[in-house]
Amino acid sequence: MKNAIITGGSRGIGEAYALKLGEMGYNVVINYRSDSSKVLAEELVEKLKKTYGVDGLAVQADVRKYEDCEKLVNAAVAKFGDKIDVLVNNAGITNNCAFTALPKEKYMAVLETNLISAFHMCHFVLPYMVKHNEGCIINTSSIGGLMGVANQADYCASKSGLIGMSRALAMEFGKQNIRVNCICPGMIWTDMLRGVNQDEVKALAQAIPMGKIGDVEDIANALEFLIKDKYMTGQCVSPNGGIVMP
Ligand SMILES: NC(=O)c1ccc[n+]([C@@H]2O[C@H](COP(=O)([O-])OP(=O)(O)OC[C@H]3O[C@@H](n4cnc5c(N)ncnc54)[C@H](OP(=O)(O)O)[C@@H]3O)[C@@H](O)[C@H]2O)c1
Repeated sequence: MKNAIITGGSRGIGEAYALKLGEMGYNVVINYRSDSSKVLAEELVEKLKKTYGVDGLAVQADVRKYEDCEKLVNAAVAKFGDKIDVLVNNAGITNNCAFTALPKEKYMAVLETNLISAFHMCHFVLPYMVKHNEGCIINTSSIGGLMGVANQADYCASKSGLIGMSRALAMEFGKQNIRVNCICPGMIWTDMLRGVNQDEVKALAQAIPMGKIGDVEDIANALEFLIKDKYMTGQCVSPNGGIVMP
């Protein structure tokens, strides 16, 4: 049986990733942070069992914290053993705030949640992947990692940072059969997009060549591609309706 861990896996893009991994036959460790997401994560584990016959585990952890990431990985290993086939770093937040009005605590929270958490998770997972001479890490970046966006300096920096980290790890661990890639979603309907100014969302949607906002399944399909294509490493795959053409 194959095993996967997803950070921020109970809702939005993370939930779609979890269902895709279940469909692909993976046991899935679903991380969540908020108490309100506990029930979502536990229901998702039940859905994975019933729909795909795989097992799951819901683990509460704040991935900004090194010790919480250690707890998360230890829980995964205790339940499914130390062969972690896929790690998906997905937890993310955004501020969408004018730079000079952005308090230090808020930009630090974005950098820690979106970027530093991936360092922590890779730190704990990579030794197991090296031991088994196999692994696939997928970091959820963003089109904000490929282009500048006003009021998103913290978010864009965190997402560009993920791309840099992924390329460097792909170089360092390629010969150990460990692949590291990024998915850079465009605008996707989730709570994150529902939480920002809807006039801005509409204006941005009009600028998308395909003229529409994407669905979480579009992003999960990219995950499947990156897991299945064994020659892909150090790359960014960006399902984005054409809004960025790198
Ligand atoms: N939606 C878009 O248009 C879009 C575009 C490009 C990139 N992305 C990226 O895609 C990823 C998922 O976004 P989404 O749209 O699905 O957002 P979402 O619906 O707001 O979900 C965010 C997820 O991150 C988790 N999370 C946040 N802080 C965490 C922490 N400290 N520890 C553990 N988990 C934490 C949340 O867990 P709780 O539920 O427990 O709070 C939740 O599962 C993010 O990295 C985001 O930047 C999204």
